[in-house]
Formats: sequence, structure tokens, C-alpha cells
Amino acid sequence: MIFFVSPLSIVLLSVFIVAVLIIFCKKLRNVNKLPVDGLQKPPTPFKFPIIGHMHLLAGYSVPYEAFSNLGRKYGNVVKLQLGNVKCVVVNGQKNIREALITKGHHFDSRPNFERYQMLFGGNKENSLAFCDWSDTQKLRRDMLKVHTFPRSFTNTYYSLDNLIQQASTLIKSEITPNKSMEIKPIILKNCANIFTAHFCSKTFSVSDEKFIRMVENFDDIFYEVNQGYAADFLPFLMPFHKKNLERINSLTHEIREFILDEVVGSKFNVDTDVEGDYLDSLIKRVKTNSDLTWETALFALEDIIGGHSAVGNFLIKLLAYLAKESEVQAKIQAEIDAKEKPVTICDRSSMPYTEATIFEAVRLIASPIVPRVANQNSSINGYEIEKDTVLFLNNYDLSMSKALWNDPAKFKPERFLKNGKIVKPDYFLPFGGGRRSCMGYKIVQLVSFGILSDILQNYTVLPDDGTSYEVPVGSLALPKNTFKFKFISR
Ligand SMILES: *[C@@H]1O[C@H](CO)[C@@H](O)[C@H](O)[C@H]1NC(C)=O
Ligand SMILES: *[C@@H]1O[C@H](CO)[C@@H](O)[C@H](O)[C@H]1NC(C)=O
Ligand SMILES: *[C@@H]1O[C@H](CO)[C@@H](O)[C@H](O)[C@H]1NC(C)=O
Repeated sequence: MIFFVSPLSIVLLSVFIVAVLIIFCKKLRNVNKLPVDGLQKPPTPFKFPIIGHMHLLAGYSVPYEAFSNLGRKYGNVVKLQLGNVKCVVVNGQKNIREALITKGHHFDSRPNFERYQMLFGGNKENSLAFCDWSDTQKLRRDMLKVHTFPRSFTNTYYSLDNLIQQASTLIKSEITPNKSMEIKPIILKNCANIFTAHFCSKTFSVSDEKFIRMVENFDDIFYEVNQGYAADFLPFLMPFHKKNLERINSLTHEIREFILDEVVGSKFNVDTDVEGDYLDSLIKRVKTNSDLTWETALFALEDIIGGHSAVGNFLIKLLAYLAKESEVQAKIQAEIDAKEKPVTICDRSSMPYTEATIFEAVRLIASPIVPRVANQNSSINGYEIEKDTVLFLNNYDLSMSKALWNDPAKFKPERFLKNGKIVKPDYFLPFGGGRRSCMGYKIVQLVSFGILSDILQNYTVLPDDGTSYEVPVGSLALPKNTFKFKFISR
């Protein structure tokens, strides 16, 4: 979740800054009140009326860089007023852990942006990622766990393995060697099939028009929710986004229709005691307990099927890094060739370099931790955090800090290896932590591992002459048509 400050917003903000400078340029200073209950107020920079500190975020290509700079200038806990939203920026591993884990139960809500409400049927509580903590959320997470964190060598695990192999085979069959090609749509479709099959036991032909449309719609929405808008903090800017939000809203309706007609089908009306896939367990719960409505269950199902967009976009970013890293590819291929058989996700533990490559891509993308909100008055590092404050936990700093990593801008999977084994430093927290940690990270890792190693078994990825492989940092999503690649048969 980043702040994407659109050109229009910048113009509007500039107008405000100038107007506000003329009118109010007086008596504004750092507030550092006396400690109450032994807690100090966090430091806060100079702010303007209306926009508060929003000007501090303008002009950064990666908005989280602004948070790192604020940390260096004012300390690891900095209070900001962004438009009408009170926020705190938290830097540093110790403080981020305090917010995620030690005091995770104080900071388990999510921002109440109007945009989230609009994207989830008028109620952000419908969303797995953007809802506040609740009994329903706990139930949804518990029901999902068995499917998103399949334990090694269980039936669920082997069945997922099979699905990944089938998808990889189809992806490879659509690759035309030596020709520049867009592989994103192919990868997304096949990831979508892994997800619908894994969670709902349903697969689609990759040339099914309705299915293709669903995949495109999910990708479009995924891009949308990964943008941050100035309007999230300055609601009077919302009308400028009305058209786009209406467009997105109609996509969510199309998805609902597809899910009901093609994925759920007659399943809801057929009584079965078999609790096979996630869809079965949702239906059973809705029928037998009053704590889950069918409406809530459908949103949960859509959210989790939409997870395929995260995997697909990640794989494209991974390929974009690798297109420039022929040595990394050669080392992965050495691990693959040592197996002397098709690689499966069961080989993960004995292919540490390949796994390290996935971690390295995750690190460099520096995906933001979805902002938390304090559900009560609390503190971090002795600084008072008032109820309803939005917390930005600066994972960008943990992923890219020169103090923590050698050559942080370089793609070096070796940094995650020690004596041939994977080592993840404590400050590597790309999936957050605690009760709001990412539900999908295991499945992202498994699917990425399976598809990447399968592609590299048969092909080497080369850059396309006309493509620049600048992978956007600090966002999980990519625009619709991104990056062409050339695949050379091995
Ligand atoms: C593809 O390109 C590779 C290397 O550039 C070359 O060795 C190979 O002959 C080409 N194959 C075809 C089918 O053109
Ligand atoms: C939380 O802190 C604010 C500001 O310090 C205070 O006004 C409010 O009464 C506190 N609320 C509770 C429930 O303690
Ligand atoms: C990929 O490589 C494997 C192992 O060398 C081989 O058995 C398989 O036929 C190849 N598949 C394609 C699509 O080239």
C-alpha cells in the first residue's frame, strides 16, 4: 500500500500549500509536550493546515523513502498528520516488532479509507486484508490456514504440487522460443487455475473468454488496491476518482457473477458431508453456524482466489530481475539439473539457491506492510500512540537499509545462504507478523518456486531489446502489460 500522488493531486496540493503558506505562515512549531504516564509524545515536523504533512511525501518515487528520511531526521517514531488522518511512521526493527508482535493486539485494525469501503461492497469488513480484527476475521483465518499453509507431505500438499506442475507445463507449452513475448497474461491465467482448483476444485480452459475476463478483472483490482491515493487522506479529492472507482466497482460485480455461476455453481445446494476444499468448508460453515453469512463467505472466497494476482505479478517481477542476471539463472539451473528429473515443490529444501533467489526478489520489491491502526491508546518505544492512529511500518527501510545489507540495491541471492543453508535475518519481515501477517506468503513461495524452476528447466530467460527492466519498488502490483521476455531453449 503506497501513496501514489497523482499529477492532479500534486497540482491541487501545490495550490493548497501556496494558499496556506500565505495565510498561516506563523506560530507553527514542533509540539513536544510534557510526558504523561511516563510516555512522551512522538516528535512531529512542521505542518500545514488542511494537508498537514502531506507535502513531505511529494517528490519521492518510492514514498517509503520519505518515511526513511523522516526517521533519520526526527527519530524512529514520528507523528504525522496526513490530511485528516493522524498517522505515525515507525522505523527500525525493534519498534516494528513491537508494533507487529509484542503489541500486535493493540495495532490490529486497518485504515478506514473510503476507497476500501467502496471496493468491498460498501463495507471494508468484507475484506480479508483491510478489515479490522474481529471474531469473524479470526474464523476466516482459521478456516483458511489449512489451505494456504499446507503441511509438507500431506494430501493437500501433493495435490497443490500436482496443480503447480500442470500449470507449469501449460505455461511452457505457450512459450515460443527466441521470440519476444508478453508472458504476464499466460502466467496469470495459469496461476488463477491453480487457485480455483486448490480452493474450489474447479479448473478452466485457458481460452475460456469468461475466465480470461475474470483474470484480467482481478489483476486490474489488484493494481488498484496497491495504489495509495492522496484522496485517502483528503476526502474532498474523492470526486476526482469517482469514475475510476465506479469502473472498478463494476469489475467486482463481474467477478461476483463469475464466482457464483462458474465456481460455486450448484455446490451450495448440494448437501455433502465431505469437507474437501475451502469452498466446501465455507458452505458447510454458513449452513451450520450463525457466525458466517454467505455474503461474507463469498467475499472471503473472492479475496483468496484473487491471491493469484499477487503470485502472477510477483513471478513477472522475479523474471524481470533474472533477465538481467544470467549467472543467477545458471546457478538455479545447476540445482535443477542436479535433480535429473522434473523439479517439484518437494525439492525446495534441497534447492537453497533457488529459494534464496525468491527471497532476494521479495526483499528488493520491498513490499509495504499494510498499515495498521491502533485500536486503543498504546505506545511504541515509549512514545504515546493514540487510539485510531494509522501506523506506517517502514519495511522499505528494513529491506533496503545500507546498515543491514551489503550492497542493498544489488540482486544477490547469496546473502540468504550460509554454508549451503537458507538463513533469514530477523529484520527480514516482508510478510509482516503477528495476527495480521500475510495469509498467502507460503502459497506465493510454493507456486513461485514450482513455476520458476519448471520454466528454467527448459528455458533461459533473456532480456528483450526494447524493454527496460525497472521493477517498481514498494508495490506488489504491475500495470497490465509489463515486460517482454525472450526465452531460449536449453
Ligand atoms: C534461438 O536463439 C539461440 C541463441 O540466440 C540460437 O542458438 C538458436 O539456434 C535459436 N533457435 C531458433 C529455433 O531460432
Ligand atoms: C487516549 O489518549 C487521549 C489523548 O492522550 C485521551 O484524550 C483519551 O482520553 C485516552 N483514551 C483512553 C480510553 O484512555
Ligand atoms: C523440459 O526438460 C525436461 C528435462 O530435460 C524434458 O524431459 C522435457 O521434455 C522438456 N520440456 C519441454 C517443453 O521442452
